Amino acid sequence: MSLNLSRRGFIASTAMLSAAPVVARAAMSDVPDIAPQNPLVKQRADAQIFRHEDGWYYMTGSVPEYDRLVLRRSRTLAGLATAEEAVLWRHLSSGPMSGFIWAPELHLIDGRWIMYFAAGPSGGGEDVFRIRTYAIVCDGPDPMKGKWSVLGQFQAPWDSFNLDSTIFVHRGKRYFVWAQREPGIETNSNLYIAPLATPLTLAAKATRLTVPTLDWEIQGFKVAEAPAILARNGRLFMTYSASATDARYCLGLLTAADDADIMDPRAWTKSPEPVFVSSEVTKVYGTGHNSFTTDEEGRDILVYHGRDYSAITGDPLFDPNRHTRVQRLYFRADGTPDFGIPVGNGPLPGRFSPADRKEAFLAHDGQRAIVGQAALPATQFRLAPARVSGSVTLSPIDMPDYCLTSGADGRIMLAKAEQGADFVRRSAFVPRVAPDNSVRFTAVASPDKALAHREGAIILHQAEDATTRWLSS
Ligand code: AHR
Repeated sequence: MSLNLSRRGFIASTAMLSAAPVVARAAMSDVPDIAPQNPLVKQRADAQIFRHEDGWYYMTGSVPEYDRLVLRRSRTLAGLATAEEAVLWRHLSSGPMSGFIWAPELHLIDGRWIMYFAAGPSGGGEDVFRIRTYAIVCDGPDPMKGKWSVLGQFQAPWDSFNLDSTIFVHRGKRYFVWAQREPGIETNSNLYIAPLATPLTLAAKATRLTVPTLDWEIQGFKVAEAPAILARNGRLFMTYSASATDARYCLGLLTAADDADIMDPRAWTKSPEPVFVSSEVTKVYGTGHNSFTTDEEGRDILVYHGRDYSAITGDPLFDPNRHTRVQRLYFRADGTPDFGIPVGNGPLPGRFSPADRKEAFLAHDGQRAIVGQAALPATQFRLAPARVSGSVTLSPIDMPDYCLTSGADGRIMLAKAEQGADFVRRSAFVPRVAPDNSVRFTAVASPDKALAHREGAIILHQAEDATTRWLSS
């Protein structure tokens, strides 16, 4: 059983967990959310997930066989894991679209569903990496049920390797952003932007946004690809993927003010360091090719792919285990996105703030459990069902083998998880959700006490006051 840490879902999940009746259960008038688990969808790379105005989450992505375009949809983000997947189109038996089919994206353009993708020939004397961008179009309003046919080829500025296109509308204008190899620049691909005139033609000369030159962009291959755009806090944040698609694959970030001339390359600032990389701690590797969506409560979600291992036999391009993953995307006080680290397999972690200190977080400093400010990963705790019925353990994602444990003196610290009965009792807490959606973590070892904070430390405390009420943020 997993705990869904969206407020509504958390109520439902904990109601199922805790033995005693939970007041919040009455608050659950509708079906509880299903809690997303990572990996969300296995063997789907380059995933695009978006929540359409029709209330459906749509998802497409590359399949390991690279031979077809697929689409699935669900009323919940987590439901994508088991949603039926339709095949919209299969590569042709010959010609320029008979080989690899890569990185599709679905867009609704002037009332028509159009799916963009990269494709190449299947050989027969042709270079299978002669990859170009194409589109198919649906003949009706339902992309899962309509008939799809080839719309045509994107008219790129050069007849060269191009892929990973995306579209966004900014200040009423529709822009196309894609990766392409530019004649005279010795890289695999750079990023370009231009307004669209029609779904397959540009309305202006393309602007080159970035060329891979930094060390973390040129590992294995010199790559800038897979752009994705998020408009937040008065800025446009454009992520892209860099380096070879093995464990060195990572996300870079370009940022522009939303009132800038985004066709001027000088409007975009490149982050000097990657913003999202593989993690040895949470064991997710090759994190990249992202998209953005929101959860059922409208909170930003980062979608990306990653493997469970770093060592790959053969060409990473033909390793099928780039799984689709999702996690909350948070923002710093200055409005910039904080990508943190890949949260790892299992239920999504949560962040908890004391009801009387909403700006602070339950966190850890080494093995000290604290309340305050800390790097994002040190504030993300995974709740997992503990061996005592209806209880959970709380483990920070960046120390997954440790969990909060009560000591003899009533102080709470992080300790390496053990199997002994005494440790199991001291690290088990029963979450109880109040009508205000705050959570009280009652200690199994001291049922009259609950997790609380005092002078920056975490303790067990008897009173039912604001220091024992935690808000899931
Ligand atoms: O997954 C196939 C291709 O590999 C994608 O188009 C690209 O983003 C990645 O390099």
